[in-house]
Amino acid sequence: MRFPPSILEEIRARLPVTAVVGRRVRLTKAGREWKGLSPFNAEKTPSFYVNDHKGFFHCFSSGKHGDIFTFLMETEGVSFPEAVERLAADAGVTLPKVSEEAQADEERRRGLHEIMDMAAQFFAANLAKKEGAQASRYLDGRGLGREARTRFRLGYALPDRFALRDHLAAQGVGAEAMIEAGLLVNREDVTVPHDRFRDRIMFPITDVRGRVIAFGGRAMSADAPAKYLNSSETPLFHKGHVLYNHQAARKAAHDKGTVVVVEGYVDVIAMTMAGFPHTVAPLGTALTEDQLTLIWRMAPEPILCFDGDGAGRRAAYRAIDVALPHLVAGQSLRFALLPEGQDPDDLARSGGAPAIAQVLDKAQPLVDLLWMREVETASLDTPERRAALEKRLFGLLNGIRDEDLRRHYRAEIGERLRQLLPQTGGRRDGYAGGGRGPGFRQAGAPAYGGQTFGKNSRGGRDARPRAGKVPLQISPSLARNSLFAATSTGAPREALIVLTLLAHPELMHRYGEIVTSLDFSNADALRLRACLIDREALATDGPDLAGALPQDVVLAAERLRAVVRHGDVWAFDRDAELTAVEEMLRQALTLHRRAFTLHSELKAAERALAADESEANLAWLTEVRTELTSLDGAEADREAANKVSTSRNRP
Ligand code: UTP
Ligand code: MN
Repeated sequence: MRFPPSILEEIRARLPVTAVVGRRVRLTKAGREWKGLSPFNAEKTPSFYVNDHKGFFHCFSSGKHGDIFTFLMETEGVSFPEAVERLAADAGVTLPKVSEEAQADEERRRGLHEIMDMAAQFFAANLAKKEGAQASRYLDGRGLGREARTRFRLGYALPDRFALRDHLAAQGVGAEAMIEAGLLVNREDVTVPHDRFRDRIMFPITDVRGRVIAFGGRAMSADAPAKYLNSSETPLFHKGHVLYNHQAARKAAHDKGTVVVVEGYVDVIAMTMAGFPHTVAPLGTALTEDQLTLIWRMAPEPILCFDGDGAGRRAAYRAIDVALPHLVAGQSLRFALLPEGQDPDDLARSGGAPAIAQVLDKAQPLVDLLWMREVETASLDTPERRAALEKRLFGLLNGIRDEDLRRHYRAEIGERLRQLLPQTGGRRDGYAGGGRGPGFRQAGAPAYGGQTFGKNSRGGRDARPRAGKVPLQISPSLARNSLFAATSTGAPREALIVLTLLAHPELMHRYGEIVTSLDFSNADALRLRACLIDREALATDGPDLAGALPQDVVLAAERLRAVVRHGDVWAFDRDAELTAVEEMLRQALTLHRRAFTLHSELKAAERALAADESEANLAWLTEVRTELTSLDGAEADREAANKVSTSRNRP
């Protein structure tokens, strides 16, 4: 049995060696490669290397060497055809029925490749001849000189109806094959098949191995019926599966660690010539799922750099929808926004490499674009419209298949919604107002002691009610009954936070900003916090401890003291060990932020379920409830842990 080389290549292009090897061998990054313990020999120091770029593994201890197919054969003892079948399934590649017929196909394709290459050579030669003088001037005018022409094999299709046909015929190529290669037009209304491309600048389109599989042809005059004409679909060319400049960009992307996606052929060339050879483009259509897969194989966070016009923005927005289901931790998209009316080619010509680098540096994450897309045009002047925005946003996030990432997106969008629509997020206190931008959150983030809440053993995933076991026809009122009810209330935690800071005002210096940004709901906690912030702001040489507190604050503090969990009061002791206090404070802050995000997500989930009793929405609500419950568990654990640690610390 023989598999067509193109199929094997396709499987290799879609499955990194690390993905296949990683199921069996624990790999760690070693420069451009990955290394691990040899699966063939017992060893203590890793001598087994994997190189995704080159597509092979090498084992120094056993001397074994090979690709993904060999790896499966060597480690699982399967035959080559079986290895191919299994990896094809993993890669989502359909194997053709291997038969004599398929072999004939493969040979015919090889023939087609040769014909396409002959055509590319012919077009390139035309450009250098005197018939190509005008085309050459056009290219000069666009800044595409000798180097660009050679590198991208640019050419020129003569105006005559039969120029290419006659040229290829003279070399023994039959008309049938030329038609199959998409070089001749053969429609019912055409008596004699003629050249498809005439009087156009020719851009050869190559596959991942660099073989010419199609052409794009650009008209030089502005009034030509179609600015660009592309090859039709042929046995070699399926435009939704191909990227312009894929081969060269794949190499460059590996070196640069990223890849840029632009819209047009000329954009790719201009970017390459400006020093950004890690650039690809789709073929005049919106980015397809398949193309995204290929792009993600090159780099984890490709930068989409689309034209600075309505069409470019729409293309970027569309890419979000294509990408969402496939997002996972570490695999996303970034968006570089071009100045209005410019494409990458314009930018390269006007500002050169520095201008491009600047735009790429400022690329925004997908969540920003998603937010922009939904909020930009939304009118928020009525409750119904605000609710509609919220519903739409969370509905979109349901499309993220990766569960953990979906949770993070919901938290982020929930947070943004609260900033945008404060009235939907519960009471506001005037301190956490809109004056603080996202930069603040970033500055505050490292001070957090990590996500302690997710780690506790209680209320973990296994405790989550399974969507399938709960009747789907759940009414909103049932959704609110005790089975689903969340118990978490923020008051004890808010009290703990402010009273701790009152007892140890020196911590305000580090945690003041974070505390200010939190959403508090308890009026006494809000009052005390305001007082702490004022004092911190007034103090010149560190916080002023001495001054007496206003009477209403004293009363507020007393009331708060009554709601604090019993195990936490040790923290208010001025002699308590500061590192322990700080640790407790960090945990409380983290939990509080998490709880608040979850509560606003809870509201959104309830609304979504009320509007649409789908399984996805029910699962969402259940998920949020479970997390809230597990947060309560984390709170209790935290309290218990602190009691233990502090009693140990005491003499
Ligand atoms: P643009 O219209 O943005 O053109 O099309 P461009 O790339 O800036 O081209 P120049 O600079 O005017 O030469 C972007 C891409 O869309 C496809 C082509 O692949 C083009 O590169 N396209 C465009 C077509 O297939 N047909 C068209 O008529 C226009
Ligand atoms: Mn352009």
